[in-house]
Amino acid sequence: MNAQVNTPKHVAIIMDGNGRWATARGLSRAEGHRKGAEAARQVVETAKELGIPYLTLFAFSSENWNRPEDEVSDLMDLLRYYLKKETAELHKSGARILIIGDRERLPIDIVKLIDNAETLTRDNEKITVVLALSYGGRQDILFAAKELAKQARAGEIDLDTVNEDIFSQYLMTRGIPDPDLMIRTSGESRISNFLMWQLAYAELYFTDTLWPDFLKKDMEKAIDYFNSRERRYGGLSQMHEMQG
Ligand code: IPE
Ligand code: IPE
Ligand code: MG
Repeated sequence: MNAQVNTPKHVAIIMDGNGRWATARGLSRAEGHRKGAEAARQVVETAKELGIPYLTLFAFSSENWNRPEDEVSDLMDLLRYYLKKETAELHKSGARILIIGDRERLPIDIVKLIDNAETLTRDNEKITVVLALSYGGRQDILFAAKELAKQARAGEIDLDTVNEDIFSQYLMTRGIPDPDLMIRTSGESRISNFLMWQLAYAELYFTDTLWPDFLKKDMEKAIDYFNSRERRYGGLSQMHEMQG
């Protein structure tokens, strides 16, 4: 891997392809999700080793509620198992856990596990692991807009003063820097309602690798790609500016 010129501050990952990974092996989709959870555990390790301060993992989308009941229930079981098993480990390793998403749709015992994980790890500084659960980018923006509207109606905020920074504070990601790099596995090149607002200027990296096969070397490749990009934010390239 190249010398690390620039470590992204925030990497966000759409962990896709568990089902196809399992089907290709004649296994159940649940087996694919189990293997996917294992890959997630390892990617947290890798991010920590590489010195990435924020890692967001898309684990379950608002739209994933539309999957067959059996699969949703398998995924909730796995999440339960994972939260119980990994929270203490993550805490020991200095990780802060944050969850974004619509908690009202999650089973109450999972909400409790999430609350515990967040409380237990809230002062940790080695890495922040954001789990997107029951998360949808549009819902995030919609909730924020409604909250702002309520406060405006109550005279608590002057809408004329609301700028992008202030609006960001109403999103579920408040306090978290925008992702610099977004990775999606499994060969799909779409956002699937992930961080719609926050990804405005992220570099996008798509790989055919299915999520359960995503290893440290794949993460390093993605970061190499990130380092090869020049981020212009609508301005001109540095080369151009140097030439006057
Ligand atoms: C990603 O894998 C995990 C979740 C969306 C929960 P998929 O379950 O979407 O796997 P594919 O896309 O069917 O292969
Ligand atoms: C996106 O994957 C959501 C997660 C990885 C959690 P999906 O498999 O749900 O997305 P689509 O259906 O291919 O767009
Ligand atoms: Mg999928």
